Amino acid sequence: MSTNSPKSKNIVWHHGKLTAEDRVRHLGQRGAVVWLTGLSGCGKSTVAREIEHALIENKINSYVLDGDNIRHGLNSNLGFSPDDRKENIRRIGEVARLFCETNIVTLTAFISPYRADRDLARSLVPKGQFFEVFCNASLEVCEQRDTKGLYKKARAGQIPEFTGISAPYEAPENAELVLKSDQETVEESTRRVLDLLAKNNII
Ligand code: ADX
Repeated sequence: MSTNSPKSKNIVWHHGKLTAEDRVRHLGQRGAVVWLTGLSGCGKSTVAREIEHALIENKINSYVLDGDNIRHGLNSNLGFSPDDRKENIRRIGEVARLFCETNIVTLTAFISPYRADRDLARSLVPKGQFFEVFCNASLEVCEQRDTKGLYKKARAGQIPEFTGISAPYEAPENAELVLKSDQETVEESTRRVLDLLAKNNII
């Protein structure tokens, strides 16, 4: 059942023949959403891709939903105003929920700067299957890396509402895991996320 109230009235929820536990039994894996959040350039996508690779190598179906990529397709009509970011995260929360329901270990790599939007995404997934992972790299480090050259443009006033410069980032208060993304290696971060998933019987 969706937590959003639909615009349409004459629609009825259909239940499938399989329960969630039937799916786990038949497919041999449980879905999860690993919600990576943090500033642009903190390493969300890089660590997500490492985790995906490690899982697939172990025959565990996994997939990365990545901010920059999704904004080329599903969310190509959205910008970076607070309302557009909210809609970006709402849609991805729903997509991640669907992936999770199909037993995929889903990794999302979006700045997702607003706590309320991340909480909404969390509310869509059964308890114990949503893991908020804060990729905590300081603004100074992200700006110094500036892999895409965007901080430089933002400082020059060429990109409005840039997270960390002219738009807010609300750090998680109750993340399941905090990665020291400006100190630990990608391999260490990957290992820590995999450990978290193992401890919670996802993998
Ligand atoms: S979110 O805030 O809505 O979650 P999302 O993760 O989809 O953002 O997209 C962030 C990526 O878009 C950044 O990594 C960066 O490459 C690019 N980008 C372009 N403009 C902005 C902006 N104003 N603020 C932040 N990131 C931006």
